[in-house]
Amino acid sequence: MIVPLLLLVAEHAAPAGPRQTLMHLSYIVASGLFVLALKWMNSPTTARRGVFAGEVGMLIAIISTLISHQVVSFELIFIAFLVGSAAGVPLAYLMPMTAVPQRTALSHAFGALAAALIGTAEYYKMQPNVPVGIMVALILEMLLGFLTFTGSLMACGKLQEILPTRPIVYRNQNIINLSILIIAAGLGVYLIVHPEQTVLFPIFAGLSLLFGVLLIVPIGGADMPTVISLLNSYAGLSACAMGFALDNKLLVIAGALDGSSGFILSIIMCRAMNRSFTNVLFGAFGQIQEAAKGKAEARPVRSATAEEAAGILDAARLVLVVPGYGLAVAQAQHKLRELYDVLTRRGVDVQFAIHPVAGRMPGHMNVLLAEADIPYDKLHEMDDINSDFAQADVALVIGANDVTNPAARNDSSSPIYGMPILNVDQARTVMVIKRSMSPGFAGIDNELYYMDKTLMLFGDAKSFLGNIVKEMAALIKAA
Ligand code: TAP
Repeated sequence: MIVPLLLLVAEHAAPAGPRQTLMHLSYIVASGLFVLALKWMNSPTTARRGVFAGEVGMLIAIISTLISHQVVSFELIFIAFLVGSAAGVPLAYLMPMTAVPQRTALSHAFGALAAALIGTAEYYKMQPNVPVGIMVALILEMLLGFLTFTGSLMACGKLQEILPTRPIVYRNQNIINLSILIIAAGLGVYLIVHPEQTVLFPIFAGLSLLFGVLLIVPIGGADMPTVISLLNSYAGLSACAMGFALDNKLLVIAGALDGSSGFILSIIMCRAMNRSFTNVLFGAFGQIQEAAKGKAEARPVRSATAEEAAGILDAARLVLVVPGYGLAVAQAQHKLRELYDVLTRRGVDVQFAIHPVAGRMPGHMNVLLAEADIPYDKLHEMDDINSDFAQADVALVIGANDVTNPAARNDSSSPIYGMPILNVDQARTVMVIKRSMSPGFAGIDNELYYMDKTLMLFGDAKSFLGNIVKEMAALIKAA
């Protein structure tokens, strides 16, 4: 977000004729690249191109802004660039993959804060006569910016487990939250009509900040990825409003793209979990988890060793691998690649079935498997591969749980009832690598583990996969 901030530092200077035209043309090119970036990021095969297009678009936008305006201070911009890079580069390189959701939340927090502070500066600078149209945009920008700032910090804290991850619920919570939002919005409307009443502004800002905290507190840590996506959408809308306030068309377009794509992503995530927005935001889902954990009963399951698993895999023709959150926790993707290589060399057809909400963030499994260079054409979306499970000799589930749970189909009392799942139970043999009988995100038992055809491979995914690879090598040597 340091980038739009720099754009805005420059935005206030007087325009220059031909340079202004060049800037507008560059903005059109940059906007086109942002749209293409979003489109290309839809598929793993074009995702790299998408990221590159987004980067080039942003570079064009920055350069054209810097050369098309009379910049007040290049020195300040350079210092801000250094400070932003000093924070951003280590964050990008040092944070593990499993921490990407909280890193994203932090980025949204800073982006939203930047938007809110720019709105605040504009508001005070334009006193006492702020045009109504500008004031509407500024109020929207600041309301969304401030609440997204504190909301995203809370989301980051919950995911990093600095804050309690369980939902914090108390009596009349929704009424209290709604009242705070209504008062903040009411003050905003009053300020639109009477912008000179600056004494009310800190109260408006304070209530918006408070609402961000209170909105996130009752949501369980595991629901944070969906919430972050929603907050992303708010940050985008705040930037869009900022574009209207500053008459910066690129900000309007980029903000609208960000706002709408974040919103669409939240809808996709909710649909894939068969949850509604209200359930995610007000359902205190983590509480259901705790309650359900207590009910898990001890029932016999069949387990197998790495040696037995290697023998079964070696004899298979079609193996469908189902990765889940545990694969990410164990960072077992490279071991999985080794297993893929050895099985493929043995003539086994190995394909990967990807559930849309496997893991803890959108595209989590795709990113993990891409990191291990598993060919893209082996990765299949749930709807494309679900019918193949019936022909599979083995479904190898690695650290996935809820996305394979038949209760989603059969048990109308289950919290995940209605969630589309992978048809793992239709494979001839099911093998599940996980450390224990502990439940996954939804906190519920999985019937799959008790089926006659299921073999539990208890252990950490990375070490168990490593052992299977070793056993496969021994098997090949002995043959
Ligand atoms: P989960 O249902 O959360 O199950 C993960 C399993 O991994 C656990 O049962 C755990 O069992 C196992 N595990 C953890 N660490 C492991 C390790 N080191 N080695 C081996 N296994 C390990 O995961 P899923 O099937 O991927 O489903 C995702 C869930 O997250 C869904 O309920 C979904 O609705 C929810 N969710 C997803 C998203 C997105 S966008 N992906 C967003 C919000 C919520 P043990 O502890 O016994 O090992």
